[in-house]
Formats: sequence, C-alpha cells, structure tokens
Amino acid sequence: MEAGAQVVVLDNLRQGHRQAIPDGVTLIEADVAEADQVLSKGKWAGVLHFAALSLVGESMRDPMRYMIENGGQGYRLIDACIRHGVPKFVLSSTANLFGTPDQVPITEGARIAPGSPYGESKLAIEKALQWAGELHDLRFACLRYFNAAGADPQGRIGEHHDPETHLIPLAIDAALGRRPPLVVFGTDYPTPDGTAVRDYIHVNDLAEAHLLALHQLDRGSVIYNLGCGAGYSVKQVIASVERVLGRKVPHELGPRRAGDPAILVASSDRIQRETGWTPEFNDLDQIVRTAADWRLAHPAGYGSSREYSGTAR
Ligand SMILES: NC(=O)c1ccc[n+]([C@@H]2O[C@H](COP(=O)([O-])OP(=O)(O)OC[C@H]3O[C@@H](n4cnc5c(N)ncnc54)[C@H](O)[C@@H]3O)[C@@H](O)[C@H]2O)c1
Repeated sequence: MEAGAQVVVLDNLRQGHRQAIPDGVTLIEADVAEADQVLSKGKWAGVLHFAALSLVGESMRDPMRYMIENGGQGYRLIDACIRHGVPKFVLSSTANLFGTPDQVPITEGARIAPGSPYGESKLAIEKALQWAGELHDLRFACLRYFNAAGADPQGRIGEHHDPETHLIPLAIDAALGRRPPLVVFGTDYPTPDGTAVRDYIHVNDLAEAHLLALHQLDRGSVIYNLGCGAGYSVKQVIASVERVLGRKVPHELGPRRAGDPAILVASSDRIQRETGWTPEFNDLDQIVRTAADWRLAHPAGYGSSREYSGTAR
C-alpha cells in the first residue's frame, strides 16, 4: 500500500487475523480454492501467494495433507491466473527446499532435496510455475525465504501464530513469563556453540524484496533466495532477546529434532545484484527489538478469542 498499490487480501483466516489488515485494503474472507471466482472479476496486476500450511513438524506427521492442500491449491491458483490473464505470480517458497545443504551460504543453484513434505509441496508449486512460464504467459518469482522474523517497526503488524513455533517470539514470551521455559533443540551440532544456526530476515526487508521482484518480472521470471546472509545460533538469539529486554530467557537444553540441519544461511547475492535489494535490518538485535516492541504492546496478540496458547518448543 505504501508503494502506491491497490491491494486485495484473500485469506480464510484459519491462521490470519482480520485486525492485521490495514484500513484501505479489502479483505475477502475465502479459501484459496475460491480464488478463481475472485480473479474472474476484475483486472489484476499480479498475485502474491502467501497462503499455506507451513509447519515442518506437522507435515512430517501428516504428509499427504500438505501435498494435497499446499500443492493442490497452488496448482489451482496458477491455473486461475492463466485463465484470467493475471500476468505476474509471486510464490512464498522456502529454505526447506534445500533440506540439509552441502554447503553454506546456500545459492539458488544448490542441490534441491526438500527436508519435509512441507518443502516438497512448495517445490511442487515451483515446478508448476516453471511449466506455466514455459507454456503460458505467466511470469513468476519464487522467493525462498529463510527465517522470517520481526514486526512492523511502527507497531502496526506483528507475529501471532497459534501454535507459535518460531524461536524469537517463543524466547520473548519465555522472558516475559508468558510461556514455559524455551527448549533448545540440540546442543551438539557442529557449530561454534553447538546450537543450530539460522538466517533471520526482517519482514519489512521481505516485503521490499517482493516489490522489487514484481518489477523484475517485467524482464522475466526469477528465483531468489532471501536471507540476510548472516547466521545466528539459538544461543545467540537467546542472548539477543536478553539484551533487548534486559531479562533472562528461561530455557532448557534438549535433544536435536529430527530433520533439523545444523546451519541454514542464504546467499542473497542474486537478488542484490539483479534488483539492488539490501536488507535494512541486518543486525539481529534490531530485528528482535521490533518483535519485542510488538509483543510488549500486544500481550494477547491480535486480541482475538484465541489467546496465545501452547507450550514453548
Ligand atoms: N515465516 C517463515 O519464516 C517462512 C519461511 C519460509 C516460507 N514461508 C512461507 O511464507 C508464507 C507465509 O508464512 P507465514 O509465517 O506468514 O504463515 P501464516 O500461517 O502466518 O500465514 C499464512 C496465511 O495464509 C492463510 N491461509 C492458509 N491457508 C489458506 C487457504 N487455503 N485459503 C486462504 N487462506 C489461507 C492463513 O489464514 C494465514 O493468514 C507461507 O507460504 C510459508 O510457507 C514462511
């Protein structure tokens, strides 16, 4: 919206929140399966496809649900875009496509070997887009996010998942006494402090990358890895939350989780080179500060009937 676009959000609110939609944006409360009808009415500059089931652990327990829902809805949405002449499609893809990588930082050309049915379902959509791009006029951007984190620095939008599985909000809530102690999964990884290392990218930098990718589609389809290019261990995230909040993060040390690689760090050289994208929030404390500010100001998240629940993990 701030970039001057007219925005319509289609969300079934299964995980999303009505209160997260700013004034001036139309919300259509519907399933992606119904997007065809919506796209048939009007002229659209592009579709950005964020909707998904996105819990890696859940996908290991219920793989076919992920393949059917994420894959099937992705196929249907691409088909609808083709039939209604939508020229551009941006997919929220994932670092999970790379499973346990051979080397870091991970470039777009790295070996693809999804670490879960969740990652496999995103790969299925990426492949469908390749065919749609080759055989139709649809131009696509596959944006493979690493760990999305942080909140709107102006405090308007923040992170509220149920269940919450992301490390930064869990660590903040543990520090604030709103959740049980955080469990650190794995302390014997081949990393400097033994805990897993991830690349955290601020949501505003992600949003900016989407706008640049949309422009880039005027020249042709693109695939970009999106991270800051810096890895932080779980212990470094805990230390950052403690610095930002000035409180200890109660935590326990636990065993590794199956399928969690030691280190996931993106090479975002390609998007930087081709679009000039540069992450503004390239310091972990900056990212954690925005997340902490939002959680301090919104103790019940979006304040729906569903309060924060579940256990820290
Ligand atoms: N958060 C991350 O670190 C991360 C990393 C890599 C990729 N991604 C991808 O980015 C996207 C957004 O992630 P998020 O963390 O904001 O997830 P989220 O669950 O917070 O948001 C997904 C949104 O899609 C909606 N939705 C889901 N299924 C739907 C359906 N069938 N019809 C209509 N609406 C539906 C939900 O209600 C929710 O508002 C997802 O596709 C996810 O796989 C996220």
